[in-house]
Amino acid sequence: MGKINLGSTIPVYPMPVSLVGAHVNGKPNFLAIAWFTMAGYNPPMISISLGKGHYTNPGIKENEAFSVCLPSEDMVEITDYCGIVSGKKTDKSGIFDVFYGELKTAPMIKDCPLCIECKLDKVVDNDRNEMFIGQIMGVYTEERFLTEGKLDFNKMKPLILSQPDTSYWKLGEKIADAWSIGKQYKNRNA
Ligand SMILES: Cc1cc2nc3c(=O)[nH]c(=O)nc-3n(C[C@H](O)[C@H](O)[C@H](O)COP(=O)(O)O)c2cc1C
Repeated sequence: MGKINLGSTIPVYPMPVSLVGAHVNGKPNFLAIAWFTMAGYNPPMISISLGKGHYTNPGIKENEAFSVCLPSEDMVEITDYCGIVSGKKTDKSGIFDVFYGELKTAPMIKDCPLCIECKLDKVVDNDRNEMFIGQIMGVYTEERFLTEGKLDFNKMKPLILSQPDTSYWKLGEKIADAWSIGKQYKNRNA
């Protein structure tokens, strides 16, 4: 099989897009990010990677709080806007209806099917980026996005980013049960 080495670059596999919220200069600000991942289970932690120049970063540090909200497909335009326009030049504080949980400086977006409220745990300086690792204090959704009490991504309709062709995609179909289908695998060496 002829493999092609794409070089020393980030392997840009599909990633869900989120809107990260923070208070900056006393007002909510949101930016689009795709670089986020779960970072711990107990206590539950999440990590986001932000370029150092963004308007949002000092606000997260000052208030030690941020949110990660997953927009739905129908929010594609406003999500992209938050990824193009900086709070440094344009006031983004009024573009969403926001709500708050326990932390009063982690603004969350009412229209998003899922919002994660985070208390800043640590900041990792990573050359041109800062990784903010936050403890998850609350996860907010609505009954209409659940099936039998569990988050249902078919109902939430998250936005997926394909970076090689810089485009938004929607989620595909379920193909198997995780932590389950592998039990059928016949390992010839076992
Ligand atoms: C689809 C998309 C994904 C993005 N992902 C990231 C990301 O993971 N990390 C990052 O630092 N910036 C990311 N950006 C860029 C920021 O959202 C953008 O620079 C934004 O205007 C910064 O806003 P702020 O200056 O108000 O904080 C992304 C932009 C788009 C459109």
